[in-house]
Amino acid sequence: MATQPIDEAKVEEFMGKFVADMGAIASAPLVRIGDRLGLYRALADGGPATPAELAQRTGCNERYLREWLLNQGASGYASYDPATGRYFLTPEQEFVLTQPESPAHILGAFQIAGSIYADEAKIEQRFRSGDGMDWGDHQHELFEGTDRFFAPGYRAHLVAEWLPALEGVVEKLEAGTRVADVGCGYGTSTILMAEAFPNSEFVGFDNHVPSIEAAQRRAAALPNVSFQTADAEGLPGRYGFAACFDCLHDMGDPVGAARAIRHALEDDGTWMIVEPYAHDRPEENMNPVGRIFSAASTAVCVPHSLAHEGAALGAQAGEERLAEVARQGGFTRVRRATETPFNLVLEATP
Ligand SMILES: C[S@@+](CC[C@H](N)C(=O)[O-])C[C@H]1O[C@@H](n2cnc3c(N)ncnc32)[C@H](O)[C@@H]1O
Repeated sequence: MATQPIDEAKVEEFMGKFVADMGAIASAPLVRIGDRLGLYRALADGGPATPAELAQRTGCNERYLREWLLNQGASGYASYDPATGRYFLTPEQEFVLTQPESPAHILGAFQIAGSIYADEAKIEQRFRSGDGMDWGDHQHELFEGTDRFFAPGYRAHLVAEWLPALEGVVEKLEAGTRVADVGCGYGTSTILMAEAFPNSEFVGFDNHVPSIEAAQRRAAALPNVSFQTADAEGLPGRYGFAACFDCLHDMGDPVGAARAIRHALEDDGTWMIVEPYAHDRPEENMNPVGRIFSAASTAVCVPHSLAHEGAALGAQAGEERLAEVARQGGFTRVRRATETPFNLVLEATP
């Protein structure tokens, strides 16, 4: 085979990309350390600090903090004032790194990445065996990180944009109906809807017991929310509205889940399917958002589905395949109600 000539400019371009990637990969554990030790919080609360001042504020070792701060400055996760030798967070860095309620909070993503690294050997083994790996067999960081990663988007869009994009659903929720949030994880989506619509009754279901327990602890004071352990495929009860947030593609039997949801829905009910943003063809998903979701999909979503009955839609299933799942489950009308850069929001009706 003739050797292909190397285009030096393209190699250089690749190396530029690699330098940015390598910086992110190597710095990710340092972001997690800053998160756990409250270093971002301490910078935000106490204002600009030299490494020695931050050490005093946090009780951490000054030498480590000097190096950590240098890395954070180089990463763009903190700012530096050469005139005073102090590091600080801009209002934007503070918004993204220290405010869990902000719609742009990003630290959950680093917990997800950490859990993927921790499970690397287990996933590698499954590349050979084809075995699955249940959601519950991952690190605890995955469950908490997933909730932290998705919650900002739900806070920003769910009540203000996604529900109003569905036909007649807001009116129904205001009047009072029963709602199933299927595959609810830690229940942030369930709680946000319950707070916005006090006349309706919300039940969150998930088959991962520790997630349901976490959701129950968080919603203990809310009168119109409860959480139950259940498989989507065996969804109990009767509802006017059902929703699945970032979980249909994870399920072993998504068509079985769609069928169970259809069975549990009233005839004029609506099913909202929120899924990671994806186009239908692989070449359309080869972009930064597709890169994030396909990584999580390889290490978490596909293994979970394979651990059950194994449809393994993957986190980049795309609208066509998702709509087909809903149709096979007995829904006759499926449309894209709205979208964000991270999510597709589909509306399925009987
Ligand atoms: C990526 S997490 C999303 C959790 C939550 N909806 C959110 O948006 O934060 C996927 C969730 O689906 C749940 N799940 C997967 N398969 C399920 C099934 N067959 N029945 C019920 N829950 C399931 C998992 O336990 C996990 O909590």
